[in-house]
Amino acid sequence: PETGCLSIIVLGASGDLAKKKTFPALYNLYRQGFLQSNEVHIFGYARTKISDDELRSRIRGYLSQEKENHEVSEFLQLIKYVSGSYDSGEGFTALDKAISEHEISKNSTEGSSRRLFYFALPPSVYPSVCRMIKSYCMNKSDLGGWTRIVVEKPFGKDLASAEQLSSQIGELFEEPQIYRIDHYLGKELVQNLLVLRFANRFFLPLWNRDNIDNIQIVFREDFGTEGRGGYFDEYGIIRDIIQNHLLQVLCLVAMEKPVSLKPEHIRDEKVKVLQSMLPIKDEEVVLGQYEGYKDDPTVPDNSNTPTFATMVLRIHNERWEGVPFIMKAGKALNSRKAEIRVQFKDVPGDIFKCQKQGRNEFVIRLQPSEAMYMKLTVKQPGLEMSAVQSELDLSYRQRYQGVVIPEAYERLILDTIRGDQQHFVRRDELKAAWEIFTPLLHRIDNGEMKPIPYKPGSRGPAEADELLQNAGYVQTHGYIWIPPTL
Ligand code: BG6
Repeated sequence: PETGCLSIIVLGASGDLAKKKTFPALYNLYRQGFLQSNEVHIFGYARTKISDDELRSRIRGYLSQEKENHEVSEFLQLIKYVSGSYDSGEGFTALDKAISEHEISKNSTEGSSRRLFYFALPPSVYPSVCRMIKSYCMNKSDLGGWTRIVVEKPFGKDLASAEQLSSQIGELFEEPQIYRIDHYLGKELVQNLLVLRFANRFFLPLWNRDNIDNIQIVFREDFGTEGRGGYFDEYGIIRDIIQNHLLQVLCLVAMEKPVSLKPEHIRDEKVKVLQSMLPIKDEEVVLGQYEGYKDDPTVPDNSNTPTFATMVLRIHNERWEGVPFIMKAGKALNSRKAEIRVQFKDVPGDIFKCQKQGRNEFVIRLQPSEAMYMKLTVKQPGLEMSAVQSELDLSYRQRYQGVVIPEAYERLILDTIRGDQQHFVRRDELKAAWEIFTPLLHRIDNGEMKPIPYKPGSRGPAEADELLQNAGYVQTHGYIWIPPTL
């Protein structure tokens, strides 16, 4: 591994993302020894004029519940705060000075300088912040090192705005310096997809249109847009969840085997999936908006923004022609979970047909209660000869007792330090993703398609279940998988 001075600069240090995700992830990396205090220094940068200690005390509560925690205090001592605006040379000169001082003091023996800029910022300031970093804060050591930036969605609102943002950033930084985070790519069971699909003989012959009837990728939350109405209303559920998180998962489910495990080989295959998508048909889209959404004072009374969407995506290639990929995402529903549900076709010439409760399904539960289970029909144990639905269950909590599953951000930040771009979105991937959704999004933005109201705490609009059925999904009756308790 690389050694030498590492500076992690959290831009937007006093914001929500930084406090809730970035600093806790950094703390966890520190605790596990991935950030060495003789190498690393963390800088918070934002407009608010506060002291180092004020920033530290604002963060403390997100790192540990305990009032006195030695490790937390040690970690907080690594953080320095610099205040300044996002578009003035003054602030960034001060920031560069602080980073350089740290580099000099830490680099008495070794010389490389690594600078990681984490954008916990609204995308509207990305271009100016990139310009400032490029002009004032690039790594200067002749002895090696790098400057990298980590950015997060929303990357634009449609194809044109995303491309504009990409070229603004692209003029200043090379693709290997840019890490576009999609935190779903950091989830344990998403990272497992590659191993699962390509290291198991089981799946190789079955994973195609001859055997699979339909695939669902589902995201549900049992709370609304609480406190984020202003942001959310501008984007809606498709931009917030489907165009990025669920689509990334879909790519990993559908892609061909990459030439090797090299990040570029993997990303090449993901792009091909996106480029093979057919346009989305209006009649294969159901939108919803939960009742009460517009009561949020930051949401306009006439908002047409969907908080729920179910839609069918279709991949035009040899493996998947005719197989619907049903994407489903919603806020304020009856449960919180994310999963991939692969439903197989009926058994041909089935002699047990009249006893069946449902089809074979392979389910990957991303969260909560991470698991993979295979729903299959078995003989009901006992004297009678009857068939019943059961499952082969690999529940992580049970199988991997004592193993702590890392937070998505923790893993992804470590990748940015190590320089591994496998789990980050490449520019052409992002463009292809926007190409798929932009026509639909424009029709919604223009009010040509309207969300159907649904009750908070429900399954969403009934029309979505009809769409699912029409796409070929067959619900299992009288059986439900229950995660094992320990
Ligand atoms: C974010 C969305 O990207 O992901 C939020 O902006 C959503 O609306 C969140 O709540 C869900 O992430 P997770 O990891 O809790 O499933």
